Amino acid sequence: MRKFIVFFGLAVSAISIALFAKNISDYKVGTELNDKQGVEYFKERAKTKVVPWADKKLTIDDVPKGKDGELIRYGIELLMNTEAHLGPKGKLKMTDPEVTCVACHLHDDNGLPGTKKYAFPFVNSINNYPMLDIETMTIISLEDRIRGMGHTDSVRFPSDSKEMRAILAYFKWLKEAYNYGDKVKVEGEFLAKIKFPNRPADPVKGKALYAVHCAACHGNDALGIKNDNYEQGGGHLYPSLMIWPDGGHMSMLPFLARFLKSTMPSGASADNPILSDDEALDIAAYINTGFVRMPMHTTEGRAGIDTAYSKSPSLKPDYFASPQQNLDPKEFIKVKYGPWKNPNYFPGE
Ligand code: HEC
Ligand code: HEC
Repeated sequence: MRKFIVFFGLAVSAISIALFAKNISDYKVGTELNDKQGVEYFKERAKTKVVPWADKKLTIDDVPKGKDGELIRYGIELLMNTEAHLGPKGKLKMTDPEVTCVACHLHDDNGLPGTKKYAFPFVNSINNYPMLDIETMTIISLEDRIRGMGHTDSVRFPSDSKEMRAILAYFKWLKEAYNYGDKVKVEGEFLAKIKFPNRPADPVKGKALYAVHCAACHGNDALGIKNDNYEQGGGHLYPSLMIWPDGGHMSMLPFLARFLKSTMPSGASADNPILSDDEALDIAAYINTGFVRMPMHTTEGRAGIDTAYSKSPSLKPDYFASPQQNLDPKEFIKVKYGPWKNPNYFPGE
């Protein structure tokens, strides 16, 4: 018996060493990593080969005909008109209010969701997942990420639903159509870097800029403009800016500023921005602190605002602020408004 215990002890330590050192793509979905393993994980991930952005200008006519093509087209429809299908006023009620996928994962001029450079494109999502989620320090699947986006769970939005399969079929088709190959990262993914001023963000300036550049479409209340048939599931003409919770990715000022620089006002791109870096930052500060946002709710695979990043002190963005975690209000203001050491960095981007 004693021998057995010793042997068992050895086996366990051998397993944990193997866990630490193995290839990142070998980690199973659901595995929890500790802070140190997380740091190693992203060090390994940073070695992934980066390939240039391919300007494919695909249209929906490039999607194959037949049954496979039908599923891909359904996936495109769900991403474009999410509220009508998945939203609480839509047919299926699988996500929370007012989330339209293409509102943040923008399309290029040809209209396929997630094909705009530096606006969280979907062109390489198949390669990017499974991935370590640093909010919870758990390896999550692409399906988990998609559910998290809709503030929903695997009961309401199961992995084997036709809707999930359709979205994944579209992502797979995109990856093949762009011809990126396996296990690569793509230049133009995630968000562009901007030059952050060495000063705190200024929400008062941001408010005035918002009135000039944004309010016409998103409204003074930031609730967007609803379509006439909103109650029947028709969704928004211009999306609400209140869809992300306090504590979510977009509530971090540098993160939102980077997004805005490459996307807004409508028509802006990373190559042809409309806002200056300073303007993008100040507007981000106003949108995120000038309104009362819904709190971040804990669902499966998603931490609450009080526990987010609590298991990953080394990876937590230096611009993540929450009243629960930064109990001293002065510290909260400093973390929330900056300036920051690493505003252009998000682990895994
Ligand atoms: C309010 C903006 C917003 C909306 C709306 C939104 N997303 Fe996201 N999405 C993000 C952000 C921010 C990230 C980056 C999160 C990260 O990588 O940790 C992201 C990441 C993703 C990813 C991972 C992409 C990759 O390759 O790394 C997928 C897939 C995704 N979202 C799907 C969806 C789907 C499907 C919907 C609609 C149900 C949706 N998103 C709606 C902001 C949004
Ligand atoms: C001409 C109308 C228009 C103007 C002006 C405009 N937007 Fe948008 N905005 C849109 C549309 C439409 C989308 C959805 C994505 C798309 O189709 O381009 C969007 C998406 C967004 C999103 C992501 C989705 C969401 O619901 O949060 C944010 C954030 C945003 N806009 C902020 C801004 C800010 C800040 C400004 C001012 C600098 C601005 N927009 C100016 C039309 C506009």
